[in-house]
Amino acid sequence: MPFPDSFIQELKFRNNIGDVVSSYVNLRRSGRNMVGLCPFHGEKTPSFHVYPDNGSFYCFGCHAGGDVITFVRKIEHLDYVEAVRFLADRAGMQVPERQVDDGMARLRMRILEINREAARFFYSVLNSQEGQPGMDYLRGRALTQRTIRHFGLGYAPPDRFALVNHLRRKGFSGEEVIQANVAFRGRNGGAVDRFSNRVMFPIIDLRGNVIAFGGRVLGDAKPKYLNTSDTPAFHKSSALFALNFAKDAGGDQLILAEGYMDVISLHQAGFPTAVATLGTALTAEQARLMARYAKEIVLCYDADTAGQNATARAIPMLREAGLLVKVLTVPNGKDPDEYIRSYGDQGYARFKNLLDTTGNDVEYRLQKLQQANPIEEPAGRVAYLTGAAEILAGLTNRIEQEVYAGRLAEEMSVDRSAILRQVDSLMKKRRREEKKKEFREYQQETAGLRDRVNPDKASNLRAAAAEEALLSAMLRYPETAEGIAGALSADIFITAFNRRVYAALKAKLDAGTELSLSAISGEFSEEEISSIARMMARYHDVPVSERGVQEYIQVLKTEKAALRARQAAEAEQPQELLGYLEALRKQKK
Ligand code: GTP
Ligand code: MN
Repeated sequence: MPFPDSFIQELKFRNNIGDVVSSYVNLRRSGRNMVGLCPFHGEKTPSFHVYPDNGSFYCFGCHAGGDVITFVRKIEHLDYVEAVRFLADRAGMQVPERQVDDGMARLRMRILEINREAARFFYSVLNSQEGQPGMDYLRGRALTQRTIRHFGLGYAPPDRFALVNHLRRKGFSGEEVIQANVAFRGRNGGAVDRFSNRVMFPIIDLRGNVIAFGGRVLGDAKPKYLNTSDTPAFHKSSALFALNFAKDAGGDQLILAEGYMDVISLHQAGFPTAVATLGTALTAEQARLMARYAKEIVLCYDADTAGQNATARAIPMLREAGLLVKVLTVPNGKDPDEYIRSYGDQGYARFKNLLDTTGNDVEYRLQKLQQANPIEEPAGRVAYLTGAAEILAGLTNRIEQEVYAGRLAEEMSVDRSAILRQVDSLMKKRRREEKKKEFREYQQETAGLRDRVNPDKASNLRAAAAEEALLSAMLRYPETAEGIAGALSADIFITAFNRRVYAALKAKLDAGTELSLSAISGEFSEEEISSIARMMARYHDVPVSERGVQEYIQVLKTEKAALRARQAAEAEQPQELLGYLEALRKQKK
């Protein structure tokens, strides 16, 4: 146990779970609880619940759950110790010195130090004699000195050991430098610079850490861009380039471009809300990250086929994250960087105009659909209208549906109500399919088939249900815990996982610590904590009476007795058989 109980208790007290979650998720009150769209999976109807009275959260859709520490771990991608530090910072608390050092947290910290030092190195090389080729390149792309400083751009010199040697002198080992992925392991086992003769783009997270780099070749060599691979301190799929600037730029809108240079050009031209993924397709995680800082995304990908395909894939993802989506098409097949540069001083005004006249994604998709289906022909008309109804059925806003149905009706000279009827029946069909899927998942879950955390459950359903009711009662009503603990020793629990949870709670009780999910969350993995949160959520609206508790205890005792009898019977059989054989042998003699 890395932290004293009293510290964790205070931490929990000072970090109200409702407040902490609210800074990431839009929560709505629902009785004593709060409900919102789950930040851990894409959904349109809220199944994410926060229970301030017992300090837990649980999502009935994706089964993520836990206490405030677990929440921070998951949403910030931290380990337990780091999440505790994060919350301590938030509440202005001093973290007590710990006896045990956490290996992973330490490595992560070293990697961040290496990255920071590497960024400084690249930057200073760029601004030295040696960096002339890099500087020429960036100036050739019309970047000002101010922009270069703002983004901390740098240059990795051609020498393949320049950075590695520099970092060695600063006290980092070759092994650490390889772990940070600024170097790779050469043939003789030593560290070799990963980036050389490239202009460097540091990627900075929301707390100001340099978490990774992108590097561009100066010429036409391949690969054009090289990025840091995932490290313990960097997850490509959940980071966004320039979000550190864009999130504070004000406004409810972010511009999502495809490349580093597009983003930098946009910022330089006066659009500091531009961000980009790191050379990969947009992920649902990134969409949700953006939804924390904006209401609307302007998709501004390249006009080529790849860019348009990426646009089509990004739209539903962004919508699922609850974002409004607009699609900006840069004229003449240019990317935003080329477009802005081609207008020189007029860049801002020109792009601003594009931005202001950009239609939303529905218009964009309808337009694409029409291009693909010649509406002069009857078959094309039908295909267009059918596809259009599909698009409208995917919208959650009724008014929006009616507006577009009206426009379609006029444009295609058909009846508006006919279009809306088609939309409604498609929506019903989708809802039925969703319900079916939910039901299947529910069945699997109740059958215990999916319980990886507690595999014993499947063959002991009745006992497990009683165990979980008791555990959740202890966690939700600490005052009942004494009574339960007095009546039951841990070995009466039949399923191994529940027994472990019970033992952990009992140990806290014996130590005089008030019971809560946070009190034991350091002893369980994230997945295990989710399971415990699920028990609490499932029984949340079931009041626990003294009699109820007694009944569960009785069930558990009965089940345990039955199990013991079964085990004894199984154990006896071979005994009997052996005895019989022995008797036979004696008879023969
Ligand atoms: P330039 O303007 O030529 O510097 O590039 P760009 O910013 O217009 O980028 P482009 O449209 O060619 O690619 C968009 C993004 O995809 C880049 O910013 C990179 O993140 C990524 N990318 C492009 N080429 C490569 C590559 O060869 N390897 C990797 N890993 N990523 C690449
Ligand atoms: Mn470009």
